[in-house]
Amino acid sequence: MDRIRLRGGRPLRGSIPIGGAKNAALPLMAAALLSEGPLVLTNAPALDDTRTMAGLLAQHGLSVDHDTNARTMTLGGTATNLVAPYDLVRKMRASVLVLGPLLARYREAKVSLPGGCAIGTRPVDLHLKGLEEMGAKIDLDSGYMNATAPEGLRGAKIYFTQVSVGATENLLMAATLADGITELVNAAREPEIDDLAHCLIAMGARIEGIGTDRLRIEGVKALHGATHPIVPDRIEAGTFACAAGITGGEVLLEGAKLEHLGTVARVLREAGVEVDESPKGVIVKRLSGLRGVDVMTEPFPGFATDMQAQFMALMAVAEGASMITETIFENRFMHVPEMNRMGARINVHGSSAIVRGVSRLSGAPVMATDLRASVSLILAGLAAGGETIVNRVYHLDRGYERLEAKLAAVGADIERLPG
Ligand code: UD1
Repeated sequence: MDRIRLRGGRPLRGSIPIGGAKNAALPLMAAALLSEGPLVLTNAPALDDTRTMAGLLAQHGLSVDHDTNARTMTLGGTATNLVAPYDLVRKMRASVLVLGPLLARYREAKVSLPGGCAIGTRPVDLHLKGLEEMGAKIDLDSGYMNATAPEGLRGAKIYFTQVSVGATENLLMAATLADGITELVNAAREPEIDDLAHCLIAMGARIEGIGTDRLRIEGVKALHGATHPIVPDRIEAGTFACAAGITGGEVLLEGAKLEHLGTVARVLREAGVEVDESPKGVIVKRLSGLRGVDVMTEPFPGFATDMQAQFMALMAVAEGASMITETIFENRFMHVPEMNRMGARINVHGSSAIVRGVSRLSGAPVMATDLRASVSLILAGLAAGGETIVNRVYHLDRGYERLEAKLAAVGADIERLPG
């Protein structure tokens, strides 16, 4: 199993290209099930998660071609197998995004229940309730969701009792081919949802309310192929912004969009990191000391839960204290004991962590059990004295493309140790 070795203490300087967003790419790929295609996605990232989704779609019968040099993915064809098996869904929860599109176009789908994952239980009840309100019949049997809609799905007014990115995406896709009008109320507003909506419109869908928490979709008979550029990855950009901040460097995040960094940019500024827009992307630099800032994770436009661990690394070396509250997932502080092994002073009380900044961390062998927790340990290592070895690198490869190469190119002392 690969590991990453790094030695901290070097300010990062230079330019880092930001790839297409993982969390946009996965639903966009699932949207290929809605039409014969071809759906051409440009700026497509080469990640383990996009490879898993490609494998899932291929086993459904679609053709999937990812030209990684051109960063272009072409998907199309007819699904011949409507089953999403446990082995693939277990690997990646976002696999559940095939349910809405399969049911909408083929009126039938059998998708494994995803089950728990490292960061919490993450149920899919909102996805299922919404599809049922659209006329689907769903039975849970032997770990699978057996869904049918013999007459096709019909439009409905759906009130989400909780904001869910995945449920909004699943129902948005399903509604494009439903009979009549669907309204999604209390919908998630993440930039990746806007991106999906724009792609669906390019495929012939009728959607209003993009960017708001109320989406209105008028179903059409069929969708067609389209070409769509995937939005830049705001979480990758935010992660490298923290890397520049924690090392006291200056980095251009090439292609990143400041408006998508939203609250993250604001909080970074409060913490003493400068964040500015430039024609080529976003420039991040730190000239003075870091200050402790309190944050709470929230659905977009609030502070992203996917940035919580990285921001905690920054706060671990800030002056003063910071209270970080996680409101989205119940078990998302797994990086804390590992950071503490590196000399951080962090206490967890329920869903909040109190971070008392220290002047220096020290490198250590560490390990984490999810993607963002793993990258937060890399950030801590960049600020630490001595050597840090991060084990279980496969978590990083799910969501970061060539992370170590991108960091090395701006001056980090970092390498991958093949295992
Ligand atoms: C997506 C992102 C993930 C991010 C998360 C929150 C993708 C592929 N993944 O995950 O990186 O951390 O949004 O921004 O885009 N919930 C229910 N019932 C449901 C669905 C969700 O109770 O049917 C709960 C979840 O357990 C969680 C909260 O709602 O507590 C938000 O989850 P959700 O927004 O659905 O996250 P994902 O779409 O799984």
